[in-house]
Amino acid sequence: MTSILILNGPNLNLLGTRQPEVYGSETLSDVEKMCKTHGQALDIDISCLQSNHEGALIDALHAAKSKFKGVVLNAGAYTHTSVALMDAIASVSLPVIEVHLSNIHARETFRHKSFIAPVALGQICGFGSHGYILAIDALVKHLAGSTA
Ligand code: DQA
Repeated sequence: MTSILILNGPNLNLLGTRQPEVYGSETLSDVEKMCKTHGQALDIDISCLQSNHEGALIDALHAAKSKFKGVVLNAGAYTHTSVALMDAIASVSLPVIEVHLSNIHARETFRHKSFIAPVALGQICGFGSHGYILAIDALVKHLAGSTA
C-alpha cells in the first residue's frame, strides 16, 4: 500500500490556539485525522509527525526514504531559513510537496522566500487545512504517473 508522511514543523503543534485568524481554529490533531480519513478513502496509508526541532525534521526526512513514497511538508518558519532542510530533501530524492495554511506570498516579505520550494515537487499555500488534502491528491497522482 502506498504510504505518505505528513510532516509538520515548529509551532504547528499549537494549531487551533495559535493566531486562529491566520491559521484557523482546527487543531493539528483535527488536521491529521482529516488526512488519515482522506487516505483511507484513497486506500493509502498516512502517517503523521510533528517536531519543533530542525534536526528532528531532517532525521524524519532521512528515515522517510525507506518507509514512505512521498512527503507532505509544512516546515513552518524553517521554510524561510533552513538550508539544512533543503539539503535533506535534495538528498533523499523523495517527492515532497510543500504546504502552508496561510498564503505566505501575501504576508511579510521574509515569508516570501522558501528554501523548500526549489527542491519540492510543488507548493500549495493559502487554502488552510484543505491544502493538506490537495497535497495528498497531488502526490498520489504524481506517484501513479511515475509508476505507470
Ligand atoms: C506556515 C507559514 C510560515 O510562514 C509560518 O512560520 C508557520 C506556518 C503556514 O502554514 O502558513 O509557522 O508554514
